[in-house]
Amino acid sequence: MHILKHELRFIMEKYSIELCFEYKKTEELSPIQRKIAEAAYKACDSSYSPYSKFAVGAAVETDSGEIFHASNQENAAYPSGLCAERNILFYVKSLKPENEIIRMAIAAKNDGKLTKKPVSPCGACRQVMTETAKRQKNKIELIMVGADICIIIKDVNDLLPLQFNADNEL
Ligand code: THU
Repeated sequence: MHILKHELRFIMEKYSIELCFEYKKTEELSPIQRKIAEAAYKACDSSYSPYSKFAVGAAVETDSGEIFHASNQENAAYPSGLCAERNILFYVKSLKPENEIIRMAIAAKNDGKLTKKPVSPCGACRQVMTETAKRQKNKIELIMVGADICIIIKDVNDLLPLQFNADNEL
């Protein structure tokens, strides 16, 4: 195998990636963060999750100041269901392609109660979140809502380093 010198150097260097996030109690959230966290929490009520019995709600705020919400929707053919995060992102980008997403919140209910720990988005949703962020100028802030504590990530891109990219560029 022929490896060019600069490629060899690239392979041998070590990199590390930092993930910055904040912990905040719900009462410490800013008014808009709290509003969207509430919307995600309420969205859990429209979840159709008879199989997992795990209701997830997601809400987004757009640059037009509107708030939209969605929830996870399951199906007897399990892989046909879709997570709350992808439902809301695909819905809002279909409905309002000209608008940017500023902020997103996710919450989950187990046995009808908000989970104590914040729910963290699955890998497929992270892939969709990061690509959504890359299609726009603004970063997308993510609030993961839990009864005990919330986690805030200022840029969803931080959630999926080295994400799949059809251009094959890191
Ligand atoms: N789910 C979400 O809605 N979001 C995630 O990020 C992970 C999981 C849903 C899918 C399924 O309906 C249920 O939660 C249990 O996995």
